[in-house]
Amino acid sequence: MVSFVVDRDMCTRCGECVKDCPVQIISLESGWPALVMERADQCLECQHCLAVCPAGAVSVLGRNPAASQSLAGALPAMEVLETLVKGRRSVRRFQPEAVPSETIRRLLTVTAHAPTGKNHRGVLFTVVEDGATMERLRQGVMEAIREAVEQERLPPRLDFFAGILKAWDKGRDIIFRRAPHLLIASASRNAPTPVADCLIALSTFDLLATNAGLGTLWVGFAHAALGHCAPHLVRQLGIPDDHELACPLVFGVPAVRFHRTVQRDADLKLNRVVW
Ligand SMILES: Cc1cc2nc3c(=O)[nH]c(=O)nc-3n(C[C@H](O)[C@H](O)[C@H](O)COP(=O)(O)O)c2cc1C
Repeated sequence: MVSFVVDRDMCTRCGECVKDCPVQIISLESGWPALVMERADQCLECQHCLAVCPAGAVSVLGRNPAASQSLAGALPAMEVLETLVKGRRSVRRFQPEAVPSETIRRLLTVTAHAPTGKNHRGVLFTVVEDGATMERLRQGVMEAIREAVEQERLPPRLDFFAGILKAWDKGRDIIFRRAPHLLIASASRNAPTPVADCLIALSTFDLLATNAGLGTLWVGFAHAALGHCAPHLVRQLGIPDDHELACPLVFGVPAVRFHRTVQRDADLKLNRVVW
């Protein structure tokens, strides 16, 4: 049973919690906000009732509204976020040192606030934190690519892996760029929107990590390699068999510094519809 508690000393009966509930399971019929018992099991656990109450009178799922962060005057200025989005770059040169575990944890804890379809919140974050594991994974992926190339098992659109392998044999890591960390987001195929959930989470992480001074790279090559050449490694990473994987990210302390944004304003493809 969903716990929904209204502090009647604070509640002004404004009805905001009723109006904002996406599944309409809160009613003011008894004079005070209350759950409609017959439909309480439809609760999405989105906590909108707690977040929207101007008085901070609603506790839901055992969450005390006083423990939430206040939003009044606390959002970043528009220009700050614009610069973050425009200034984020793909980083392909990393320092070898590890990002502190606490930093990774903090970034992922905030990332887990990203929206998910039907508020499913089932995204699993698989993160490689230590250098030895990253090295084993790198070697394992490259061995699997070698086997697939030698056995001519790859579809034509993945022919480029032969070139990536040649570069690897000459000491160049085109896939992981010698980054110290890898982040894979995955979610059950049975979730309402698994791939969207994972990509939204990773995009959120991407911006948070950039803002924290880290460098990130989306690695479509790794996605293709894990899917086509090395599904056994996905299992070894502890990712459940029924999970869909989104394109992974590598990240770390950058060994490159960008001094200005690129210029893409003119690249906007806009379809302004008036019907
Ligand atoms: C889904 C996705 C997959 C990508 N895969 C790779 C990759 O495997 N290797 C790589 O070097 N860059 C990869 N990139 C980075 C893009 O090449 C890069 O985002 C683009 O060139 C624009 O540069 P910017 O990120 O610095 O703005 C990928 C980007 C995305 C969004």
